[in-house]
Amino acid sequence: MTQFSRRSLRTALELPMDTIDDLIARPLVDLGATDTVGVSVSFAQAEAAFVAELGRASKEGRWEDISDRWSPLRGHCILDRIDRNWVQSAPAPLNQFAQVELQRLRAFVNIRLFASAPLQAETADLVEGAFKNLRIAFDKEIAGCTDAIDLGVSTTAWLGRTSGIIKLVTDNWLKPAKPELKRAIGQALNALKAHVEAVLEERRAAIQATADQAALAREREDLSLAGVVRPLGSRHPLRQTFEEIERIFLSLGYSVVAGPEMETPYYNFEALNIPEHHPARDNMDTFYMAAPFANDAQRKPSRGGAQGKPGAPPLLLRTHTSPMQVRTMEKQQPPVRIIVPGKVYRRDNPDATHGFMFHQIEGLAVDTDITFCDFKGTVEYFVREFLGPKVKTRLRPSYFPFTEPSVEVDATCVFCGGKGCNVCKQSGWIELFGAGMVDPAVYGFVNYDPKKYSGFAFGLGVERLTQLKYNINDLQLYFQNDVRFLRQFA
Ligand code: DAH
Repeated sequence: MTQFSRRSLRTALELPMDTIDDLIARPLVDLGATDTVGVSVSFAQAEAAFVAELGRASKEGRWEDISDRWSPLRGHCILDRIDRNWVQSAPAPLNQFAQVELQRLRAFVNIRLFASAPLQAETADLVEGAFKNLRIAFDKEIAGCTDAIDLGVSTTAWLGRTSGIIKLVTDNWLKPAKPELKRAIGQALNALKAHVEAVLEERRAAIQATADQAALAREREDLSLAGVVRPLGSRHPLRQTFEEIERIFLSLGYSVVAGPEMETPYYNFEALNIPEHHPARDNMDTFYMAAPFANDAQRKPSRGGAQGKPGAPPLLLRTHTSPMQVRTMEKQQPPVRIIVPGKVYRRDNPDATHGFMFHQIEGLAVDTDITFCDFKGTVEYFVREFLGPKVKTRLRPSYFPFTEPSVEVDATCVFCGGKGCNVCKQSGWIELFGAGMVDPAVYGFVNYDPKKYSGFAFGLGVERLTQLKYNINDLQLYFQNDVRFLRQFA
């Protein structure tokens, strides 16, 4: 519950004063005062009503009226009615709280009625006694002030220029006093005023100091508290493979480039020497979409047929990273040495060895005088760097439309060292990736002179290479985000 001061509520209330009689005729519960806050609000309303009535009565010189209504000396006064209707009828848990509130209200009303009534004192002694009563009431009131709002209300109540108690006493006690008592009253009044001012100031300073301390305490850092341990993540195994392969090829002078995952059929197929009805498209079915290509400048003049246009729809999710071979060669002349890490997509049902999304790193080197020996040397160097110095490499004839000759790169089985096991199906060899010398037909699409330039290309499957390196038997583990799997690679 928010901390609040009873009196701060009063200042916030705007109660039509004639309703106080209606209010006190009803039990607190009927007024919605079902908890201590509600009870406080009701008493604050009563207090506000009294202050307003007293102000009005003093201004109009009808002091008797208000005294009639509020003074406990008269029967059936408002305070008694409050006692009967509010306090005594309050349900048990609130009854005691309401009693305390009523006591406070009585003190509040009494002191004001006392200061507003003509002084009933014929001797200096009695004068002193009257002022002592005021002082006791004041001290008690101030002791109950807990915050700056409370104190502000009390300050106005006592020192307020139009209806503060000091002013009431000046008007009602000092001014009409008989000449022989004037001096005594004047002195006592000055002393009371000085006391009130001093105590209010002292209290103000104390409240301020407490507030400052509370603020400081709130802001203080407790260095002895236990720290919050946040679990540290680790790089995903695929990410680690990416970084390792990038490191190997960067050390050979390759650069890393990235390309769009949303491709045109031209770059994904045609320019890689895979025409529309080529059987090589069969295992490269993918996702097609009707979105416009991001950069219209990528469009090229027609090469015959919708699919022949570089920017022609339908757009597809690239099935391999090879399109970046074409995009790179279109933009630059040899020497070209690039690797292209990225995501690729295929229409595949997910199982231990298939996914609709996986990762590849394409490689391409084109220059004058690049021979099959350069290709073989690069491949062997890479495999030894990646899988270890003992691993041997062999090239097996294969087919890709964009390489000629094409090969599958095999390595001696990392699990049995080449002796033969379940993973290599007793052959001692496992297939790593596809590669080959760039087919001259591809140079035709990028206006390279095939007589002048030659080169090789390769396409690494990142999931597969990671699986071989760490002996992971299910491709789906990579994407399930199970930390028990992932933290093994930390
Ligand atoms: N793009 C091929 C695929 O995804 C992989 C590949 C094979 C890339 C041979 C090459 C390569 O650059 O020379 O199946």
